[in-house]
Amino acid sequence: MKATSPVCAASLSLVLAGLAATSCGSTNSAYTALPIPELLTGTTFDLTLAPSSRQFLDGGATTTYGYNGASFWGPTLVMNKGDVVQMHVTNNLTEETTTHWHGLHVPAAADGNPHQPIAPGETWSPRFEVKNQAAMYWYHPHVHMMTMMQLSLGAGGLIIVRDPEEAALALPRTWGVDDIPLVLTSRRFDADNQFDVTTAAYGDYLLANGVMNARVELPAQVVRIRVLNTEVERAYNLGFADGRTFFVIGNDGGLLDAPVSTTRVQLYPGERVELLVNLGKDAVGSALTLQSFNGGQLFGYPGGEPASSGNFGSLLNNKTFDVLRIVVTGATAGAITTVPTALVHNSYWTDADVTNSRTLNITDMGPGTPFTFDGAGYVDTVINQTIALNAVEKWTITNNATFNHAFHIHDVQFKIVSRSSGSVGETEQGWKDTLSLQRNESVSFIAKFDDFASDTNPYMYHCHMANHEDEGLMGQFLVR
Ligand code: C2O
Ligand code: CU
Repeated sequence: MKATSPVCAASLSLVLAGLAATSCGSTNSAYTALPIPELLTGTTFDLTLAPSSRQFLDGGATTTYGYNGASFWGPTLVMNKGDVVQMHVTNNLTEETTTHWHGLHVPAAADGNPHQPIAPGETWSPRFEVKNQAAMYWYHPHVHMMTMMQLSLGAGGLIIVRDPEEAALALPRTWGVDDIPLVLTSRRFDADNQFDVTTAAYGDYLLANGVMNARVELPAQVVRIRVLNTEVERAYNLGFADGRTFFVIGNDGGLLDAPVSTTRVQLYPGERVELLVNLGKDAVGSALTLQSFNGGQLFGYPGGEPASSGNFGSLLNNKTFDVLRIVVTGATAGAITTVPTALVHNSYWTDADVTNSRTLNITDMGPGTPFTFDGAGYVDTVINQTIALNAVEKWTITNNATFNHAFHIHDVQFKIVSRSSGSVGETEQGWKDTLSLQRNESVSFIAKFDDFASDTNPYMYHCHMANHEDEGLMGQFLVR
């Protein structure tokens, strides 16, 4: 039986899968519990990527990929700043993969980019010091022209870095209780219930931590939600259905100086944001809904296209859709009840620190043609930029293409210093490794390229929309 609506599709399949679900009707929504990926701690991390399957819809199971036996996504790796970690990644697929530590400042040879392939049956064992600040990072495959496929099948996981500055703050940090991850993506299914992993830019069904119609119980106190957009292409414009104010406390690579109160936060593919939501005044048993307000966006907004089907349309396009249902439960012992007024002290790079500047221009030859940086698609033997070790560089990325993009650079965390479309958003003022770029917009950031140099191993920069990356909107740089 095929689904007629996302809600019914989920509830029926969940009943069949033996998971928690209630009735499916026009007024009753059926939810499934938001899965919380298990934490792996220590300084040695073993990951094994293998094919799997999961029951999403009635009928046949959907083929998926997962790390460490998971049927979608993988465990969350917890690392402490300053630790030297030994990674072992085993590839039990029948094709090549790589594992990139998105956002981590590691030597290029340990980066897990297309230059560190792991052949089927092989294990890759990089070792590196954790130099990043406390924040949520993530790992995912990065094989050129196969990233969209492997990521879409479910290969990926979170990395949480802890450090003493974060630990000293009165923030929620009980995993799965008052501190939850929220990994957002969506999928389209074909007639055999398989994911469309090659043509659809957008899925029809939202997946939160890998499940449809997710619901989580959170205590009546200040809670922390760490959000990652792991879509192929869709952006999210998150807020609550009741319009309540919440707080952004961190960006991709660290905590902000102070919480920023807002009612909306935007997240392009690859970006992360840490939120605090005060549920202290919500009645036990009441519910609230996190939504994405994707309707009525300017042309070029990823997922704003007003089409419900086709490669660039989906059932979620150009509208407001539910992301997560939250049901309020009783407060926990030792609850955090106030949002801190100050967080950490960041020293950001400014124009005065810059030792070199460069520009990149994203273009295309019209709708349907590949996007490129400076007119050239990715070639694995071509080094596109060479950066001096310890340079503080200002990069200006200009988007002259027909669509918005999500620019991501490896190796560094940067500070966005200007947007030609207006001011830098309050919710993106911290350390970043990925930024949104509208059509006809230039964005400048400043970063320091320190610690790691190599004459042979490059790092990548690319659009984090996996379809754009796979078709060649990627370049590489040496730090030397
Ligand atoms: Cu999230 Cu080059 O990657
Ligand atoms: Cu792009």
